[in-house]
Amino acid sequence: MYFYTSPFIVFGDDALVHLRTTLGKRALIVTDKNIVKLGLADLVCKELKEANIEYKIFDNVEPDPSLDTVRKAAKMAEGFNPDWIIGLGGGSCLDAAKAAFLVYCVPGLEPDCINPSETYNTRLKAKLMGIPTTSGTGAEATFAVVLTDVEYQRKLATGNMEAIPDLVILDPLMVKGMPPAITAQTGMDALTHAIEGYCTTYRTRFTDGPGIMAIRSVFEFLPRSYKDGSDMEARQEMQWAATQAGLCMNGGNAGVAHSLAHSLGGIFHTPHGIAVGLFLPYTMEYQANSSEETKARYAEIARFCAIANGPDDKCAKALIAKVRELAKSLKQMMSVKDLGIDRAKYMASMEGLVERAVSESMTTAVHRIPNEADIEKLFVYSYDGKSVDF
Ligand SMILES: [Fe+2]
Repeated sequence: MYFYTSPFIVFGDDALVHLRTTLGKRALIVTDKNIVKLGLADLVCKELKEANIEYKIFDNVEPDPSLDTVRKAAKMAEGFNPDWIIGLGGGSCLDAAKAAFLVYCVPGLEPDCINPSETYNTRLKAKLMGIPTTSGTGAEATFAVVLTDVEYQRKLATGNMEAIPDLVILDPLMVKGMPPAITAQTGMDALTHAIEGYCTTYRTRFTDGPGIMAIRSVFEFLPRSYKDGSDMEARQEMQWAATQAGLCMNGGNAGVAHSLAHSLGGIFHTPHGIAVGLFLPYTMEYQANSSEETKARYAEIARFCAIANGPDDKCAKALIAKVRELAKSLKQMMSVKDLGIDRAKYMASMEGLVERAVSESMTTAVHRIPNEADIEKLFVYSYDGKSVDF
């Protein structure tokens, strides 16, 4: 038995106007100060007013939200008693909102104890909405919740099916002002979700569709929206692609680029999109080197996106080269060394890096599951920018 879950998605020009039809009394908006400063929270509040929904704003979400931030947002909700929690912003805001929603709806639940297999009956108390302001994390479409345990310097990748929003609003107005660097990083995250989600052992035909469409869109429209942020066709296509990639990952899970990135991010605080985009070609090489299933999937992508034709081997290599070419054109870091991380410090952290990556669920979602020794080699090769030959 398999499942495929999706929020109700409203997309396209004026999608925000749909908020006027929302039924409810009170909404807590979970966001950050920058989103408020940019006036994006105002756009949402204006529509909530039209719907006669009272609102409060929690604007203290930081990049890589901590357990404490989630507790504070949930506490604000408890004093306000909203029937909607709205995550507004990039992946950090959406993850914080999803976790705060669960903690608010489930008495006594601690954010680090969110259990993927528990039934919480959250909808008896409130509903969850996601309004992304970046195009990449896909958090609006997934059950995943990524938090940071500051004390133990680690990312907690957990989730629950009830953390999938009821409603997602994709209005191009919300991503129009995204700066080129964020456009590139979040776009590479979307590409990683779609390529990894398309090739795991969890994938189904329901995740394949959004996944492969997202990959093709990213190759075509990410360079355009990076070069010219006012290219609204490209902005809109990337916004859709990011959510499609999220839908692909929600059912298909992700892969080892995500495991390595979470691990690196927990210790060296590398932004998620930079880290996944960096590790993606190395982990793809690792899979293609001795997983025939994955190689065939890469080849399928390459043919669908008109990157190459012919035998699987040639097509898979062409896809990996295309990923590197895209990252380069977006001025992304191609190796860990490029990030400015000191080699001695990196090597001294290796035990922790490997231990964290091994414990990630994505590490076992792939056809070729790396052991500890291979994960260490992947970290070393990615540091030196060396093509994976094992
Ligand atoms: Fe990601």
